[in-house]
Amino acid sequence: MSKRQKRFQVLSERPVNKDGFIKEWVEVGLVAMDSPYDPKPGIKIENGKVVELDGKPRQEFDMIDTWIADHCIDTKVAAEAMAIDSVEYARMLVDINVPRSRIVQMSVGMTPAKIVDVLKRMNMVELMMAMQKLRARRTPSIQAHVTNLKDTPALLAADAAEGAFRGFTELETPVGVGRYAPMNALSILVGSQIGRPGVLTQCAVEEALELTMGMRGLTAYAETVSVYGTEQVFVDGDDTPWSKAFLASAYASRGVKMRFTSGTGSEVQMGYAERKSMLYLEIRCVMLTKGAGVQGLQNGSISCIGVPGAVPSGIRAVLAENVATVLMDMEVASGNDQTFTHSPIRNTARMLMQFLPGTDFIFSGFSAVPNYDNMFAGSTHDTDDYDDYLVLQRDFQIDGGLRPVSEEDVIAVRNKAARALQEVFEELRLPPITDEEVEAVTYAHGSKDVPDRNVPEDLRAIDEFMKRGGNGLDVVRALAKHGFSDVAGAVLNMLKQKVSGDYLQTSAIFDDDFVVLSAVNDPNDYQGPGTGYRLEGERWEMLKNIPQAISPEDV
Ligand code: 5AD
Ligand code: CA
Repeated sequence: MSKRQKRFQVLSERPVNKDGFIKEWVEVGLVAMDSPYDPKPGIKIENGKVVELDGKPRQEFDMIDTWIADHCIDTKVAAEAMAIDSVEYARMLVDINVPRSRIVQMSVGMTPAKIVDVLKRMNMVELMMAMQKLRARRTPSIQAHVTNLKDTPALLAADAAEGAFRGFTELETPVGVGRYAPMNALSILVGSQIGRPGVLTQCAVEEALELTMGMRGLTAYAETVSVYGTEQVFVDGDDTPWSKAFLASAYASRGVKMRFTSGTGSEVQMGYAERKSMLYLEIRCVMLTKGAGVQGLQNGSISCIGVPGAVPSGIRAVLAENVATVLMDMEVASGNDQTFTHSPIRNTARMLMQFLPGTDFIFSGFSAVPNYDNMFAGSTHDTDDYDDYLVLQRDFQIDGGLRPVSEEDVIAVRNKAARALQEVFEELRLPPITDEEVEAVTYAHGSKDVPDRNVPEDLRAIDEFMKRGGNGLDVVRALAKHGFSDVAGAVLNMLKQKVSGDYLQTSAIFDDDFVVLSAVNDPNDYQGPGTGYRLEGERWEMLKNIPQAISPEDV
């Protein structure tokens, strides 16, 4: 262009114009909620068996259709459920006079195309109303990533401690270097229980090692068991709904909480979207998860958020898939994890979809470390956003899961976590954590502020620990022997929970006294104004009291 209009020039340089956008392209599945190739809702049942699903006869079922027909759909309510007009059912989702129990009874009688037909009639505010009413647990919560570029264990422990102390109820770590996994798991286990006893931890790695760490008590839950909406993507990953369900049972049988992961955009990214809308394929994942008997799902596009983020109504589809999960009576960890935009405005707007109604986990990965240390390719929100987030909670009187903390207290928990891990390492014959490291991680912003470690030595030692059968009880003994009996008690309590199994209930987290809060004893009872979870009383006093607010006495 020869001569630029100056306003357009300024606009073209705005962060939002660094984002990628694409017009709908149905042939490759780049369409959010409504593809002309999406099937029409329909079901035929003979002798209690689904013989036709959304216009497809059983002989033509792929393995996902078979799984949904045989394990998810409740054939006893299907006729009644499918007969409800889609607009009527969409209205029931937002109607405060229709209880949640009635809604979830009918949803399992519906087919994937029927659920899409319902959700696509709802606008953003209606989807948020549905989420407010339908999420499983009454008390909303929040999950964080704890990782760093160097896999420095003392820093992981300090960051886990601070994250737990600030209010995250689940913490997850992956690894920069794969073989570091058990050391990372051990570090956030110790750190988390110092920040707040009862916080759940996981370490997302290859399936066999992840399961082993859960069984040995080094982790408390698992989440990244991926499922997909087309058969070919499953086949490419050498998996089937049966193999995923088997893995889910393995975790449950050892008392380890678990959820599946899915999300719009994965099938497009892998090149097998079968010309279907992203939401339709995602509803298949949600129903597959329900059929596997798994208590919950991490969805909301997750690592594929750039894909729905690029098409019209794509971010609305992301909220719709979260709603589909709670509609199936499961816990939802609702995304807001991987970063998807250069625009701070767009970033906050996307987060409000889950923040305003509240979900089981508003974030399935807030970065409890600076973004440069986030090994999940960066999160929408990180440690530098803590104060903005606390102010949003205060502005709106909404419980987003975090609380104001003092610098002094954070220094204390970070330091205690590093010192406790130092003793554990010594006792377990792992390479020493020096006093210099303890001091550095206590005051660090991130891994740039801490000394390097001898990586080969760390890896050799943690391999050896795993080979000799090292487990959670070794950690308990080490803590108890070195004067950290309170932490030892908390870690032991986490191990005991695997025996009692109460936290296998839908949407379970622990409160400060190791009491489970779940859909069983803390069920969402929202039915309009005056009901459901409200930020009030002591909790509101705590959250509104941000340190930077001046008191009338000081004026
Ligand atoms: N679908 C399925 N699995 C996903 N994951 C992330 N996004 C998706 C998605 N849209 C899983 C992958 C990844 C981990 C972070 O979560 O397993 O490794
Ligand atoms: Ca997560």
